[in-house]
Amino acid sequence: MENYIKAATEQFKAVLEEQIERQQRMENDSGAIDYKKLEKIIIGICYGDGIGPIISKESKRLLEFILKDEIANGKVELRVIEGLTIENRMAKNKAIPDDVLAEIKACNVILKAPTTTLKGGTLESANVAMRRELDLYANVRPVCVPELGIDWTFYRENTEGEYVLGSRGIEIPETLAMDFKVTTNAGTKRICRAAFEFAKANGKTNVAIVTKANIMKKTDGKFSQIAHEIAKEYPEITAEEWYIDIMTANLVNENIRSNFQVFVMPNLYGDIITDEAAQIQGGVGTAGSANIGDKYAMFEPIHGTAPRLIEAGRGDYANPTSMFKATEMMLRHIGFIEKANTLSEALNICTETEKKIVVDDSQNSATCSQFGDYLMETIKKL
Ligand code: IPM
Ligand code: MG
Repeated sequence: MENYIKAATEQFKAVLEEQIERQQRMENDSGAIDYKKLEKIIIGICYGDGIGPIISKESKRLLEFILKDEIANGKVELRVIEGLTIENRMAKNKAIPDDVLAEIKACNVILKAPTTTLKGGTLESANVAMRRELDLYANVRPVCVPELGIDWTFYRENTEGEYVLGSRGIEIPETLAMDFKVTTNAGTKRICRAAFEFAKANGKTNVAIVTKANIMKKTDGKFSQIAHEIAKEYPEITAEEWYIDIMTANLVNENIRSNFQVFVMPNLYGDIITDEAAQIQGGVGTAGSANIGDKYAMFEPIHGTAPRLIEAGRGDYANPTSMFKATEMMLRHIGFIEKANTLSEALNICTETEKKIVVDDSQNSATCSQFGDYLMETIKKL
């Protein structure tokens, strides 16, 4: 037992020093990249696992269509990144193999298909690793259901909390296991600032700060306190404090849910509650997600690799909607606002109002690429 305690103490020391160093690095960060100033924007498309290659090839086709001129005149380049597969990651025993990470870092923005995340073991999630490696601190997830009066934008902290150290816990066999959760000042400031800036820029009047600060007194306590300090700089916006458990109930409470506009919260709560919110919108297959940092940004669907669909031999029937939503968010982020608006309008026609071609769980479902064709035909008509 003494040896376990010694090893665990050393591990904790290393983790602590590393996190102090990270927080200091963040303090010195120097602002966000301006895509307009780039001569060329390089978009990397990571194919991923399961249905990933199927839906991302469809997004690639969509981008080639929407950005035809920009690609032709060299303003935009699309690069396919194939190595982010569970097989390659396991073979190299790295969440993101070095050569793949180098390819990713050579791009400006990434469109990423779902990747397999293993339960247990030591191989870290590719998502979590990418968010950390590219310092993508704001996970932005919009959920919109106009007929229910719902127009929510979630700002989930993306580089801290339980996640960043989730593969670095301590285990004493047959005795106990312990994971670490970290909340830093600089990390909290930047996510809260991003949420309030978004609220201000989009005329929102309400930001819900969601924690469990009554229980996680140090980490969530810090998050809550810093969020309120930042809120003081935005007197036109009401900052409300909520605990995550009741907020989970609020989202299904028809009497109050349409009052919420912007949410800001630590990583794990954001992970859980955004799946709930996406379900209200029609399922996790309908939601896209932006992972934004100062130097890079990555856009992805919020669902997984759908192994059951692949096992059933029905991969071609994967629904690309959330990948298309991620594509829309990416276009918007890199400055193609009009193109993003057109894509959004066409997506709405194809999935809400017209619905001539539908991808669903039924035997009559259209294929992923039939839906892609339908969307592009719809864009042409706009
Ligand atoms: C998400 C996913 C990921 C997460 C997994 C795949 C690691 O659930 O993006 O919400 O938990 O962040
Ligand atoms: Mg999730």
